[in-house]
Amino acid sequence: MLNRFYSSYPILTTERLTLRQLAITDDQEIFKLCSDKAINKYLNRETSNSIDDARIFIKRINENIDKHIALYWAICLRDRNMMVGTICLYGFSEERSSCEIGFELLQDFQRQAIMKEAAEKVIDYAFNTIQVQRIDAYLHKDNQSSIKLLEKLSFLNSNKIDEIHTNLISYHLSNSNDLLDKPLEII
Ligand SMILES: CC(C)(COP(=O)(O)OP(=O)(O)OC[C@H]1O[C@@H](n2cnc3c(N)ncnc32)[C@H](O)[C@@H]1OP(=O)(O)O)[C@@H](O)C(=O)NCCC(=O)NCCS
Repeated sequence: MLNRFYSSYPILTTERLTLRQLAITDDQEIFKLCSDKAINKYLNRETSNSIDDARIFIKRINENIDKHIALYWAICLRDRNMMVGTICLYGFSEERSSCEIGFELLQDFQRQAIMKEAAEKVIDYAFNTIQVQRIDAYLHKDNQSSIKLLEKLSFLNSNKIDEIHTNLISYHLSNSNDLLDKPLEII
């Protein structure tokens, strides 16, 4: 059984980052993320048009957290206490012992390996605390920066075609780098 329950929301830290629950005071940064056309280009969500939209978004996310449907972290720079992106785990399946991962970073903070650092910590949390055996990522086939990131994190292309959403591809990462995913080494 997946261990999705906690007494207080898990705060994760890395060398440069603190990952914490979203707060209503993150409304400006969430608005910036959700209204940025370049960031939204490959994301299937409605663009925020106002700070109110961003606040509604934060409330909805936190309701899902309260119901343990998802975990959604604000990625903050430790030295500036500033939110620069988000990362989430959702779509939990007890049957498959799996979940999905999603992420986004403000443009000014891309290309500094910030998301890689955040994702490594969240993946560790998913495997070792929640104890999923597999993490899936669904993305647009042209989303090169995300593909690059997932491959750096050792995700493998699942080589599955979604017959309804033909632009979507999927990647997955198995716990302990599932031996079945790797070619056998001949000694
Ligand atoms: C996906 C996304 C988070 C990737 O951001 P990113 O900053 O490129 O990702 P990383 O944190 O892995 O950083 C990698 C970059 O940092 C650079 N970098 C700098 N220092 C580095 C270091 N010490 N180690 C590794 N990489 C480093 C890399 O060269 C790379 O840049 P490049 O792409 O020009 O080669 C970002 O493009 C984004 O927000 N996209 C929109 C949202 C989206 O599509 N989300 C996916 C939904 S599933």
